[in-house]
Amino acid sequence: MERCACYVTLCLLGLGLLETNAFEVKIKDDSNKTCIYANLRVNFTIAYNTTNGTSKSVTFVAPDNVTTEGSSCGQSDAGPLLNVHFGNGHAWSLNFTKNDKDYRGSILNFTYNISDSILFPNAKERGLLASVTNTSFFVPVPLNASYKCSHEDTVTTERVLQLYWNVTLQAYIENSTLGKDFHCSADIPSTTLSPTTNSTAIPTTATTPKPTTKPVDKPTVGNYSVSNGSETCLLASMGVQLNVSQLVEGKNVWTALNIDPHSTKSSGTCGNDTALLRLTNSPTVVEFFFFIKKKNFHLQEVNVTLINGSGFSYRTNVNLSLWEASLGNSYLCRKEQLITVSEDLYMNTFEVRVQPFSVHNSTFGTASECHLDDDSILIPIIVGAALSGLIVIIVIAYLIGRRKTYAGYQTL
Ligand SMILES: *[C@@H]1O[C@H](CO)[C@@H](O)[C@H](O)[C@H]1NC(C)=O
Ligand SMILES: *[C@@H]1O[C@H](CO)[C@@H](O)[C@H](O)[C@H]1NC(C)=O
Ligand SMILES: *[C@@H]1O[C@H](CO)[C@@H](O)[C@H](O)[C@H]1NC(C)=O
Ligand SMILES: *[C@@H]1O[C@H](CO)[C@@H](O)[C@H](O)[C@H]1NC(C)=O
Ligand SMILES: *[C@@H]1O[C@H](CO)[C@@H](O)[C@H](O)[C@H]1NC(C)=O
Ligand SMILES: *[C@@H]1O[C@H](CO)[C@@H](O)[C@H](O)[C@H]1NC(C)=O
Ligand SMILES: *[C@@H]1O[C@H](CO)[C@@H](O)[C@H](O)[C@H]1NC(C)=O
Ligand SMILES: *[C@@H]1O[C@H](CO)[C@@H](O)[C@H](O)[C@H]1NC(C)=O
Ligand SMILES: *[C@@H]1O[C@H](CO)[C@@H](O)[C@H](O)[C@H]1NC(C)=O
Ligand SMILES: *[C@@H]1O[C@H](CO)[C@@H](O)[C@H](O)[C@H]1NC(C)=O
Ligand SMILES: *[C@@H]1O[C@H](CO)[C@@H](O)[C@H](O)[C@H]1NC(C)=O
Ligand SMILES: *[C@@H]1O[C@H](CO)[C@@H](O)[C@H](O)[C@H]1NC(C)=O
Repeated sequence: MERCACYVTLCLLGLGLLETNAFEVKIKDDSNKTCIYANLRVNFTIAYNTTNGTSKSVTFVAPDNVTTEGSSCGQSDAGPLLNVHFGNGHAWSLNFTKNDKDYRGSILNFTYNISDSILFPNAKERGLLASVTNTSFFVPVPLNASYKCSHEDTVTTERVLQLYWNVTLQAYIENSTLGKDFHCSADIPSTTLSPTTNSTAIPTTATTPKPTTKPVDKPTVGNYSVSNGSETCLLASMGVQLNVSQLVEGKNVWTALNIDPHSTKSSGTCGNDTALLRLTNSPTVVEFFFFIKKKNFHLQEVNVTLINGSGFSYRTNVNLSLWEASLGNSYLCRKEQLITVSEDLYMNTFEVRVQPFSVHNSTFGTASECHLDDDSILIPIIVGAALSGLIVIIVIAYLIGRRKTYAGYQTL
């Protein structure tokens, strides 16, 4: 108490240019020294039930005019606390812990006022609701270093999806000066890559215009890429459709959801031996994790975050072995493919071309085509194999028959 006559300053960001909202705050102690600095952008997507029984989601950006009352530089028994208030009673807080080498975020508490009828029209609930998590996005950072992450990172709880980007954050600041940058792994460029131009030439098999019969249309093929600074390090183009089973009046009803490339953002990370492609079509997020094994890459994990009647939930399959091609090549599959993510969710992909590693000049490498595409060859092979199998069976049957007849002769 006695130490905490914290003076709090609040800086409005005149970020200028075209950029949207970000807040920047500095927390000072009683001797006017800055102990916490934060400058970040965050989008909140919140699921809620309406008075008429439907569920809804809203997305909003944390504004730049925020206040910081309740923040503190910490005392003997509690770590530093950053407490940010904005809008009509919403608050975002993060406290910190440290050891002798590094510090990290502890509990992230986002509280939203669902009575705010401008943000949450027709909300059934009233009052303050909290989304509390152990921070996963804020890794241990060396003391006196400043955490920096321009890539996007998400924090998901049952009803709230928080999307962070352009984060600069430091606690336990000494001498009121930000320490040197400690970059999140997503920001660290991996190996050799070349300048970016365009996510180019996909051999789009001419989709003949279909008559507009629609149970569900095929999804539009989108071009996605991930960059490492200025260089494109992952390329993908595909159409994605999710099929979700939901319980409606006691029955499982499957609903198809097409990922519309026009409203989808791609992001992700490129590592030396793992890569992530994240497609965000708020409130749905689809993540593809690629791994390298023996000079080949493959799709190993798919993680889908969805909203439904009860809020956000995710489905994941970490045991896939799909979309394999050798490093330097791209994987190509024109046919529709089905990926089972969970019992109640599967994904259909169309016209897939991906290259999660070794992208040069923002162009796809040589295509390795999937087997499905080779059915012109495959069918004769299958028929041939079946025929030879039949011949072998006939020969064996004939031989057995002969032996039996012969044995018959013996006994006589
Ligand atoms: C703290 O610093 C600000 C300027 O940085 C100054 O206006 C204010 O008077 C100082 N407060 C104290 C208690 O030193
Ligand atoms: C429920 O309210 C939303 C607006 O909040 C409206 O769009 C929707 O049509 C309503 N549904 C029913 C069944 O009344
Ligand atoms: C954040 O939300 C706003 C408003 O919905 C949207 O326009 C913007 O694209 C979102 N930003 C990101 C990075 O998703
Ligand atoms: C923040 O700014 C918006 C408009 O720029 C204004 O409507 C709102 O009242 C401000 N909020 C606070 C807490 O100052
Ligand atoms: C952070 O806050 C939570 C409660 O909001 C508390 O349980 C936890 O001990 C705090 N951590 C630190 C390091 O102060
Ligand atoms: C989260 O913040 C709200 C309001 O600021 C507070 O009432 C609640 O106790 C906090 N929850 C935790 C676990 O710290
Ligand atoms: C992140 O901030 C930098 C400047 O600090 C800006 O150039 C860049 O456009 C920002 N990125 C996003 C996605 O807002
Ligand atoms: C803070 O200042 C003290 C005394 O000037 C110095 O010994 C210390 O190294 C400084 N710490 C940092 C992180 O710069
Ligand atoms: C990038 O590719 C798209 C089609 O994939 C094309 O329409 C566009 O003109 C290309 N842009 C450049 C700069 O080559
Ligand atoms: C990736 O490879 C480069 C060069 O081979 C190396 O310098 C870097 O440390 C590696 N990064 C990781 C995370 O392994
Ligand atoms: C899938 O995404 C959710 C929500 O972001 C996350 O909590 C979970 O750890 C992810 N699972 C995997 C296997 O990446
Ligand atoms: C909506 O209401 C249902 C049933 O009352 C509940 O299970 C669910 O958690 C609620 N969802 C949200 C987002 O509040």
